[in-house]
Amino acid sequence: MKSIFVTGGAGFIGSHTCLLLLEKGFTLFILDSFVTSSQKSLKRVSLILSNKGIDIKGKIYLVEGDIKNKYDIERVFKMSFELNKIIKSVIHFAGLKSVAESVKNPFLYWENNVNGTINLLKVMVKFNCKNIVFSSSATVYKAKSNVPLFENDICEPFNPYGNTKLTIERLLKDIYNSDSSQWRIASLRYFNPVGAHESGLLGEDALGKPNNIYPLITQVAIGKIKEIKIFGSDWPTVDGTGIRDYIHIMDLAEGHFAALDYLLKEKPQFLTINLGTGIGTSVLELIRCFEKVNNIEIPFSFDNRRVGDNAFVVADNSLAKKILNWNPKRNIDDICRDGWNWQLKNPNGY
Ligand code: NAD
Ligand code: UD1
Repeated sequence: MKSIFVTGGAGFIGSHTCLLLLEKGFTLFILDSFVTSSQKSLKRVSLILSNKGIDIKGKIYLVEGDIKNKYDIERVFKMSFELNKIIKSVIHFAGLKSVAESVKNPFLYWENNVNGTINLLKVMVKFNCKNIVFSSSATVYKAKSNVPLFENDICEPFNPYGNTKLTIERLLKDIYNSDSSQWRIASLRYFNPVGAHESGLLGEDALGKPNNIYPLITQVAIGKIKEIKIFGSDWPTVDGTGIRDYIHIMDLAEGHFAALDYLLKEKPQFLTINLGTGIGTSVLELIRCFEKVNNIEIPFSFDNRRVGDNAFVVADNSLAKKILNWNPKRNIDDICRDGWNWQLKNPNGY
């Protein structure tokens, strides 16, 4: 069970999770098209491990390819057979994630995210691999006000990106139902993954101008962007700004390990699990925290609300705590410190 197929392993969440899995001794077969990333993240993963004296020779195989092409996926499975390091589990990060882009080009998102996942699942069946952890998102939920979101809450995404994530979850449930004595499936609904590895060598390398608040703050701090435009000052929240559940990227990585470990130890099942801290932070609180922890000023002004935004998006994470025995260990101060350390050391990304 030591060989894992990781799709999208060079991306933000994938690279941090790959680092953790390599530290834990897994062998990784990574398939990535580098459409929103580069190989440099994985070179940094190797560097961090070599700095720690961990030898990963023969433990990481990187294949450039696309999940839209099922032969690329097959190539990875065949390679694992030839090396006698047979893949038994998949962690499926590969996907496009820009809400705005998905609204402009829904075909791109449905083809990449949904068709790509169908290809992956078909090839998994062909190679008798029936364990998968999937990157879903809190974006699938219908918003509620001022109460945390439970896994059983109503799902009603409001954009094509969210529709692709919910469709994949439904597809996974259908696949599970088709052969429930074999499949082990976990769909992880991430809240707001942010921050960076504590070394400052690995972090989020948003290509182009980011849309999300956290990378925007670090880019304002480094002087690339003049100020933060806060979307709305009249939300029904403590200070009128939107509240989110920011989760440190290494806590999220640990959530993947916990989910996989649980799946492999337990009976076949289909799980949907929130990965968030359960703690809400407003935009103003986040900015103030970043300023305090890093002793740096973040200029901001108020703008109109953004279309599609909600006042309050926070996880109820009791299921993850209970069944995965997973607890986020890092707080918002750690998030602000580690993200700034990464940005300072890598002003232009990798
Ligand atoms: P990312 O863009 O940094 O990483 C995605 C990776 O997948 C990249 O390396 C990209 O090159 C690769 N990829 C995309 N399409 C591919 C394809 N067709 N074939 C092969 N590789 C492909 O994004 P991320 O933040 O690391 O997100 C990883 C996953 O988590 C995505 O599925 C995303 O939708 C989901 N997610 C992200 C967030 C977030 O806020 N970052 C929140 C919820 C869910
Ligand atoms: C956004 C997406 C969500 C996606 C997630 C990860 C929208 C409406 N939601 O989530 O579907 O899963 O990114 O990619 O696009 N903010 C500002 N100014 C900015 C940017 C953001 O004030 O320039 C505020 C937002 O109004 C929100 C908070 O910061 O209150 C967090 O925003 P963001 O980082 O974009 O994340 P989400 O909106 O949670």
